[in-house]
This record gives sequence, structure tokens and C-alpha cells, in this order.
Amino acid sequence: MKHSNQVTLIHQIFGAIDRGTPPMAERFTRNDTSAYTSPQRAAREREVLFRHHPIVAGFSSQIPNPGDYLTEDLAPVPILVARNASGEVRAFVNVCRHRGAKLVAGCGNAAKLFSCPYHAWSYDTDGRLVAIPDDYGFEGLDRAATGLVALPVAEKYGLIFVIPTPGEPIDIDAMLAGLGEDIESYGIGSMAHQETRVVRRRMNWKLVSDTFWEAYHIKVLHAQNVAPLFFKNLAMFDAFGRNTRYIGVRKSIEKLRDLPEEKWDLIPHTTILMNLFPNTILVMQSDHAEVYRIFPAGAHVGESVATISILAPEPSPKWSRTMDLLHGVVDQDFTLGEGIQHGFESGALRKVMYGRYENALEHFHRSIREAIGEA
Ligand code: FES
Ligand SMILES: [Fe+2]
Repeated sequence: MKHSNQVTLIHQIFGAIDRGTPPMAERFTRNDTSAYTSPQRAAREREVLFRHHPIVAGFSSQIPNPGDYLTEDLAPVPILVARNASGEVRAFVNVCRHRGAKLVAGCGNAAKLFSCPYHAWSYDTDGRLVAIPDDYGFEGLDRAATGLVALPVAEKYGLIFVIPTPGEPIDIDAMLAGLGEDIESYGIGSMAHQETRVVRRRMNWKLVSDTFWEAYHIKVLHAQNVAPLFFKNLAMFDAFGRNTRYIGVRKSIEKLRDLPEEKWDLIPHTTILMNLFPNTILVMQSDHAEVYRIFPAGAHVGESVATISILAPEPSPKWSRTMDLLHGVVDQDFTLGEGIQHGFESGALRKVMYGRYENALEHFHRSIREAIGEA
């Protein structure tokens, strides 16, 4: 983040601390619980947000060299991302054109060809069909038209964005609506991928996300772990188009009051969260980044699957311990979220409320309604 923006935010933070209240919306709002339980809503979200919107499929640091590849099975369309011989990132539907086998599993390095595990049709890293065993059985087939189906892909700020539908235009900076400059400043592109864990939960994907967009619960739900580090119910929210930047404030920020402004550094005294709409959350800590990617699990409105990744400048076993600690905190959120889903599905509650200081939640849900045409 630009230093001048950090200084502005720090002044706003000191203002909020001195006032004793966080920045707030004019009034509190409500949201229908059907957003979390309606199969029609879930189908619409899946179509618009997860098939026709750019989603983060991985990190540049996972596939640094030509022939490196990764696959993504959590999106509604199976995705293969590969770096081709000239170093460009390409994305494909990970489905063999012969009879539909999943072409590639997992991730790997230095691939020249992707050979299907079923009958060994082979494709190069640009998706071209280059070999058919016993090809006399396919006389007349137009090979040039039988390559892997390409998907729109863009590599930006160390992240790989894919639209799981062929042929759609992809413009990441337009989508990020000004947040890109911030993301770039954190240097995610130069951080290495340390570890990813997968979490499956019986709760709508939005409940997984919701837990990040208010600081109101920290004092209560996380009283035994992170709460003592942070100011109670204090966070700075800014919208960038449909995306969100949300900054939790550590008590250590008070130290800056004794320093001249040119020495002010926001990063060590905050946790900066960004929602890359709809489903990717970047959490910038002072020495590493955490990335959550949250998906509906299949077609069921009440199930989700998320990946939690740690990116850091240097590999070290300490990141596994960081992951354990992190997992301990979000596990509290997710366990509580499963209870919320249960309550919603019982029909017990028609509306939830977002307090004036829970306005980042209101922004997230309003953005979804706008995107799917329910505004
Ligand atoms: S399904 Fe891939 S080669 Fe037959
Ligand atoms: Fe939490």
C-alpha cells in the first residue's frame, strides 16, 4: 500500500480509537436467510459467480517454469492450468476430447505432453492434440479442432485467474477496481507457496466468507486466542467495486503515535484482508500471506469446500505451525457457521441483521445480489 494511503488510514484509525467507535454505515441492514438456503439462489450463484466470473485457480509460484501445471477440481468445471514452452500461462477444461476422462490429476513439473490415462490421447502444453494411438480408427478427424478446450486465463500480481467458460473476455484490473495496486505492493508474486489444506464444511460458501468481514465477533468467539492482540470491534472497511479491503487493527499501532509520519508503517500493526470478489480472500500478515478460496461443494446449497494456503518469502517448517494456529482460529468460525446453517435450514429465522459496523458484510451480500441480478 502506498505510504500516503497508509498515513491517511493510520490517522483514521487513531481517530476511531480516540472516539471509541469504528467507522460505521448510516444504519443497520438485513439480509434474507434464503440467500443461504435457497437451491435456486445457489444455482444462480454457481452459474454467474463460479462459471462466468474470474476466479483464482492458483498462484504463479506453483508453476514457475515451462511445463509446470496444476489442476483445480473445486470450480464447477475441472480446470488444468499449465505454463507453455514460451512461459505463458494457459488454462483448459481438464477433460479429454476422446471420451471425457479427466486428463490430468494434481500438479507437476516439466511436462511436455499431457497423456490421457484412458487411451493415451496426448496434448501439448498449448492444448494441441498431438497423438492418437492407433489413429486409423479416427480417420477423417480434424485434429486441429480437437485440442483441449481453452479457458480465459490471466496471470496478475502472482495470482492466476481463470473464467471457467470458454470465450469470455477477462480483464482482471477492471474486476479489481483499483485494489490491484494494493495487492501488487504486498509482493505475492515473489512469495512461494508453502502449504494448502482443504476444508469441507456443512455450510453455505457465503457463511465461510462472512466470518472474515466483521471484527465484532473477535472479542467473543476468539477470546482465548487472537482477541487480546486486536482493538475491540475496530476495523477499516473500503469497497473497491465489488471487492473488499478490510483492515483489523492491532493494539501495537499505538507505538506509531510517538514516531514521525514518515516512519509510519501500517503493515506490522494490522491484518489486511481483501476479498477478490466473489470467493478469494487474501490475508496479509506482516511476514506471510494466507489465501482462502471458497466454493460451493457441488450443487448442495448447504455445503462448501475451501482451500487455505500459506504463501511466504522463505520456506520453513514454521509455516506448518502457523497453519495449525490459523486452523485453530478459523475452526471456531466454521464450527459456529455449521450451527448457523442448521438454524437457517430449520426455517427458524427469516432475516439476519448486519450492524452499522458490520457494513463490509452488507457490501459483500449486496455485491452478490447485484452480480446475479437480484438487486
Ligand atoms: S478418454 Fe482420453 S484417450 Fe480416451
Ligand atoms: Fe473469526
